[in-house]
Amino acid sequence: MIQLIDVTKTYNTGKSEVHALKGISLEIPDNTFISICGKSGSGKSTLLNMISGADKPTGGHVFIDGVDINQLSDKRMSEMRNNKIGFVFQSFLLEPSLTALENVELPLLMRKMSREQREKIAIEMLDKVGLRERLRHKPGELSGGEKQRVSIARALAISPKILIADEPTGNLDEATGNSIMELIREHTKNCTFVLVTHDTALAQTADMKITIKDGMISRND
Ligand SMILES: Nc1ncnc2c1ncn2[C@@H]1O[C@H](COP(=O)(O)OP(=O)(O)OP(=O)(O)O)[C@@H](O)[C@H]1O
Ligand SMILES: [Mg+2]
Repeated sequence: MIQLIDVTKTYNTGKSEVHALKGISLEIPDNTFISICGKSGSGKSTLLNMISGADKPTGGHVFIDGVDINQLSDKRMSEMRNNKIGFVFQSFLLEPSLTALENVELPLLMRKMSREQREKIAIEMLDKVGLRERLRHKPGELSGGEKQRVSIARALAISPKILIADEPTGNLDEATGNSIMELIREHTKNCTFVLVTHDTALAQTADMKITIKDGMISRND
């Protein structure tokens, strides 16, 4: 279970303060598919960063399975993230010096998996996202949609308990997007899936739907 209690996030850019989250409280039971909608700049990506522990809230608490994640040491936090959480970032965050295959292998490497096993899983995932022919390409040699698919393969490769995805099909044509979403849904049957999307029809298919407006939850159903 993921639990947020009065989470706030203020970015201080030196010149000005941005109150990106203004008190978000939310409970997401295990194995829930939750969609998050809202206008650009409303705070969706910021919220995902709080849930995944990628960034710390200014105020409030985030509990994952009863653990206040911001009380964890850096080491414990990265262990928790590496073991439980797959993240598809809006900006992909691939390692530019590594090939597609090595990028997908990276979280598996952190799990101290053997090279053979890592490669097998990574190739299988890249095959599933349609990139069997691009294993040795580096991010700079891939299209935007291909990079997005590498980041999806990387997130799914660890069979996460929680998959957090920030507009994972935003750069894909409709047909590829649909088939990738199907693949994600297949791999998230027994996990919590937190999805930010502008696709309202897709959002409607979620178990829980929230809308963020100006750093607050404006609708929760
Ligand atoms: N690192 C940062 N420093 C300062 N301000 C930031 C930072 N990151 C985000 N913001 C601001 O916080 C607000 C929320 O940003 P966020 O990225 O969460 O929006 P979003 O809902 O994901 O938008 P989009 O749909 O465009 O991705 C925006 O006004 C943004 O300008
Ligand atoms: Mg965003």
